[in-house]
Amino acid sequence: MKKRKIKDNIYWMGSVDWDRRLFDSLIPLPDGTSYNAYLIEGNEKTALIDTVDPSFTEELLSQLSGIPKLDYVISLHSEQDHSGSIPNVLKKYPDAKVITSPKAKGLLMDQLQIPEEYFITVADGEEISLGKKTIKFIYTPWVHWPETMVAYLKEDKILFSCDFFGSHIATTDLYVSDETRVYEAAKRYYAEIMMPFRNVIKNNIEKISSYDISMIAPSHGLIYPKPSFIIDAYKDWIQGSPKNTVVLPYISMHGSTKRIVDYFVASLEEKGVRVEQFNLAVTDIGKLAMAMVDAATIVIGTPTILVGPHPNIVYGAYLANALRPKTKFLSIVGSYGWGGKTVEILAGMIPNLKVEIIEPVLCKGLPTDDDFKALDKLAEKIAQKHREAGIK
Ligand code: FEO
Repeated sequence: MKKRKIKDNIYWMGSVDWDRRLFDSLIPLPDGTSYNAYLIEGNEKTALIDTVDPSFTEELLSQLSGIPKLDYVISLHSEQDHSGSIPNVLKKYPDAKVITSPKAKGLLMDQLQIPEEYFITVADGEEISLGKKTIKFIYTPWVHWPETMVAYLKEDKILFSCDFFGSHIATTDLYVSDETRVYEAAKRYYAEIMMPFRNVIKNNIEKISSYDISMIAPSHGLIYPKPSFIIDAYKDWIQGSPKNTVVLPYISMHGSTKRIVDYFVASLEEKGVRVEQFNLAVTDIGKLAMAMVDAATIVIGTPTILVGPHPNIVYGAYLANALRPKTKFLSIVGSYGWGGKTVEILAGMIPNLKVEIIEPVLCKGLPTDDDFKALDKLAEKIAQKHREAGIK
């Protein structure tokens, strides 16, 4: 794509990655993504905010072909999808300086071997002038690494936020127009990338709330001409009350756990509790992460294998523990053949989850009538816990 004008002397640059389906060899990208860089031309100086993934360096250099002089490359976040083309940009503009936070400087030197003499570090709240364009740097740690900051272009009231408020969408659109689609993609992105740091991000949102922002320009996905759309969504995901929902990731080997899960889901539904059920043998792990953003309860369904939970369930539990959702309750259902330590092993794997564990129901072989009664009791207990906590 060619560079695109946002306002006078402010341009989108970057690349749309239509084909990427996995990020960090972990995160599914069903809709591709984009790597957005932004060019700002002041009366005296020119700055590029972020670059692109190294696989798209040539496209960025082509977009820069009409730019005779670049004074600054501003690196808001040192992960390689935004910083990976900096060395080649510096080859093209050897007099340019890299402006970044002190923490990011160290990371960029380690990861990209950029020599120290290229760097200018900025403090929280520091400003630079490009001549009639003033950029203020605001530290916003953990969106998504500890070194991250955002840049506020004062005269135009644009917040350049890098990963913060991003979404993984490949599109030729520059601005959000289909809010439903972007909400879904941004929530997935929040769940996979931001949710573990939600308590810090809450402070970051408070910090930027004092600024008059007309537009948020992230480095993935679309620009927000209505910033309240995404800021309000983040506030809800971070601080909103969890919902009357059970997220139920499960695996079944020979059908016992599937029979338990099917019965249990129907029982929960009868008692007015919504369920999102995920068979981890086939599920998109990003969908599971999204469901965990709002759910009041997680119930894990697993058979016992090698005296413990199924390995796919171990992966799911590890992910839940790492993502730290605001879930309040957790239980386990499943089956076993002759014994095991499934409950103890799973309970030991989730120290980050501040949840109340509700008595699990494990059946020996296929569920019996007594097991079904126990599942009904568990469903009623969950419904009661939700009611008592005022969860709707
Ligand atoms: Fe888009 Fe944390 O990089």
